[in-house]
Amino acid sequence: MAIPIQQQSTVRRALKAWFDPRGRSTGLIAFALMRLSGIGLVVYLLLHLVVLSTLTGGAAAWDTFVALAKHPAFLLFDVVLIAGILVHMLNGLRVTVVGLGFGTNSHKGLFWTLMAVAVPLLAYAAWLVFTK
Ligand code: HEM
Repeated sequence: MAIPIQQQSTVRRALKAWFDPRGRSTGLIAFALMRLSGIGLVVYLLLHLVVLSTLTGGAAAWDTFVALAKHPAFLLFDVVLIAGILVHMLNGLRVTVVGLGFGTNSHKGLFWTLMAVAVPLLAYAAWLVFTK
């Protein structure tokens, strides 16, 4: 049974306000995913440059990194990265197309269609990451 809002702790209400996606508009969900994935990609780009700088430590330093990069936890990170790329790229194309005045009446449906397209692409990418 749902607890009345007055009886919920402040922390619980704050957590719900931030992280409960139920009842949110498609636009807000798309915006939040775009911002999260955008920030994630910038962080990844910086990490990528830091990792590449290990090349200055010679072949041994690079080999140590490559061994770490093959660990399943690291591969999971790759899958999360690909999820961010797919969401950002597909939604970015939608924002661009709608911004140009095309498909403005069906932009919500377009968002969910593109997210549905992202699911099998991500599944295939995850399969490649863990098996190849
Ligand atoms: C196919 C590649 C990409 C496309 C089509 C794309 C498209 C877009 C679009 C259209 C926006 C504006 C969203 C809006 O105003 O609602 C945006 C925002 C942004 N993009 Fe990208 N982008 C791409 C790749 C990248 C990459 C590689 C990075 C980072 C290294 C990045 C980082 C960001 C950030 C930080 C924002 C701001 C997010 C926000 O204000 O909420 N994007 N992108």
